[in-house]
Amino acid sequence: MKLNNLLLMAVLLAVFACQPRQRTNSSTDGKETAEADADKMEWWRDARFGMFIHWGLYAIPAGEYNGKKSERIGEWIMNHEQIPLKEYEKYAAQFNPEKFDADEWVSILKDAGMKYIVITSKHHDGFCLWDSKVTEYDIMDASPFKRDILAELAEACKKHGIHFGLYHSIMDWHHPQAQAIWEPNYNRGRNDTVTNPEFPLYFQNYLKPQLEELIDNYPTEILWFDGEWIPAYTTEMAKELYRFIIDKNPQMIINNRIDKGRQGMSGFDAEGEFAGDFGTPEQEIPDTGVEGVDWESCMTMNDTWGYKYFDDNWKSEERLIHNLIDIVSKGGNFLLNVGPKADGSFPQASIDRLKAMGDWMDKYSESIYGTTSSPFVRPDWGRYTQKDNRIYAHVFEWPKDKKLVIDASAKIAKAWLLNDDSKKPLEIDKSGGNLTVAVPANAPDEVASVIVLEVED
Ligand code: GLC
Repeated sequence: MKLNNLLLMAVLLAVFACQPRQRTNSSTDGKETAEADADKMEWWRDARFGMFIHWGLYAIPAGEYNGKKSERIGEWIMNHEQIPLKEYEKYAAQFNPEKFDADEWVSILKDAGMKYIVITSKHHDGFCLWDSKVTEYDIMDASPFKRDILAELAEACKKHGIHFGLYHSIMDWHHPQAQAIWEPNYNRGRNDTVTNPEFPLYFQNYLKPQLEELIDNYPTEILWFDGEWIPAYTTEMAKELYRFIIDKNPQMIINNRIDKGRQGMSGFDAEGEFAGDFGTPEQEIPDTGVEGVDWESCMTMNDTWGYKYFDDNWKSEERLIHNLIDIVSKGGNFLLNVGPKADGSFPQASIDRLKAMGDWMDKYSESIYGTTSSPFVRPDWGRYTQKDNRIYAHVFEWPKDKKLVIDASAKIAKAWLLNDDSKKPLEIDKSGGNLTVAVPANAPDEVASVIVLEVED
């Protein structure tokens, strides 16, 4: 083995050894066996790109309460602006999203190249987007809209071949046996140990029955939990909940926020036995992937999850496409958020960005779907992904000298531009211990061009 290969292996081993691991346990209460795991995770690992949707009553204030523009994220306005329960409940009577068209939403995300959706069945504020049998605080009973949003979306997803997932908050600011007793400091307890002694009743008689409804009555394939940090929720509850869900549907994919192991925004679990199938980095992309660990970076296009009418800090289309490639090159999924408006429409800035991503995916999705990280060191000019005997070189910085420098350890038999249907071979130069591919003077794509490198044998 060459010295630089040895060095690379040493670096990779050191990186893997230092990383927290998501899939260390195979106990029945927190994890499926490796085999069941591989089976149920297969579509999710291939998909690589999904849409997060944060939608609920908070879209009505849209970031502003009593004339004050909230500086914090939109879906937290009830807590951050200390809105009393009775005041916040009034939004339910106003929630009438007449422009909501499930088919249109799903068409937009499909055209962007996304393969799955994760929408808020219930966020921390407690309002439910389906006809829940255990509460009247939902779209059918408390709002004039009286259409089951989850049912309509599930139907549209089925029609378009999109996988259907739900975000469900463990914490609940509206429920008297959960955080409503801290009104209006609903998130109290995050940094101390106060708990509502009745929380176990909420857990058994409200949270679990709601999940049962969402598993039994909807074609739910992902359950994406959040709000697990509250001290009243224990790791024992988490393992019980995981088992409860898997007994009902062994194929359910569940994020690690069902348990208490997540380490902040980095999203990976600490050492220990924690339930959950994948790590959840939030608003960040890890420096490297982690061997044997599934993960998904969730991210906003501006600075809020729930709609805020004055948040114009939009990421560029280029940034978002590069983020997708960066994440996939490290073996992760990208869950990109849209915060629809109260009338049921997507913000135009989100639509524009999704369109740009879709245009790029139309040309290059082969280098994204079903691919994973490559064994090569990350190049200065972009990122690699890999599938079967193909390495995909995503070039962000097109070489001015028309020579793309490839990791010298790669055994490349053939190279061509992914957008070139004729697969005209690009010249490969292996002289002097270096490996370069001769590329045209101009980048085929301004944002990220892709070169296919076919590996020998
Ligand atoms: C954070 C926010 C929450 C949001 C979530 C998405 O946990 O508190 O509002 O839903 O991130 O990952």
